[in-house]
Amino acid sequence: MVELHGKTESRNTVLEVRNLRAYYDGSEILRGINLKVGKEAVAILGPNGAGKTTLIKAICGLVKTRGEIYFFGEPIHGLKTHERIRRGIAVCPEGRRLFPNLSVEDNLLLAGDEDRLELAYDLFPKLRDRRNQTVKTMSGGEQQMVAIARALMQNPKLLMLDEPSTGLAPIVVKTIGEAIARIRDMGISVLIIEQNIHLAFSIASRAYVLVKGEIVKSGKVEEIRDIEKHYFEL
Ligand SMILES: Nc1ncnc2c1ncn2[C@@H]1O[C@H](COP(=O)(O)OP(=O)(O)OP(=O)(O)O)[C@@H](O)[C@H]1O
Ligand SMILES: [Mg+2]
Repeated sequence: MVELHGKTESRNTVLEVRNLRAYYDGSEILRGINLKVGKEAVAILGPNGAGKTTLIKAICGLVKTRGEIYFFGEPIHGLKTHERIRRGIAVCPEGRRLFPNLSVEDNLLLAGDEDRLELAYDLFPKLRDRRNQTVKTMSGGEQQMVAIARALMQNPKLLMLDEPSTGLAPIVVKTIGEAIARIRDMGISVLIIEQNIHLAFSIASRAYVLVKGEIVKSGKVEEIRDIEKHYFEL
């Protein structure tokens, strides 16, 4: 097949990041990242401080960057954050960032139209029962469900999740993992950052290992089983 500047592939590529660099106060945190996400779930793995959260922020336009970011083949690196979100990028951020004094349903309605509520409640039936509960009175696991449901309310084409399992009990991690897999099966592309490798590999078909701002390994999850040995290569 003839390939013109990668364009034959781009039909199936939802997100493509080319030579992406990110900076805080002039220091370079991402050092030339290349990655692609198709209609699939992809995991980003790596030790603390590797730049995983910064990568999500860079894709959203929340940090200073250089390099290129394409969404369905269109350059988005020049767009403001809200414009990137409007095109179909949703984030379930580290620390969830919900409105603690509002109810579950009000948190959801701030993110999307009423006609998406049933989809969110079908994903987490527990939230349907708790729709009027004030979010700050909920458990960590329940709040994580609200955060994921809120992202789904945005009708995204790509959902990025930053360590959704952090601080949760194994049974809740299982529920969250199954929900993310269902989101993937709805045809929404998923980019998941996880320290819980078992969870990441139960959802993702491919993974990238990020160490000190560089991708040190990528491939099918079967090929990256013993990833921690790569953490110290740089
Ligand atoms: N707002 C900021 N200002 C300055 N430096 C920052 C800022 N945010 C992150 N950093 C630095 O950027 C580097 C990467 O941080 P980042 O949060 O992206 O790592 P991470 O891989 O998500 O780590 P963790 O697994 O602990 O969440 C770290 O050295 C961190 O100190
Ligand atoms: Mg992080």
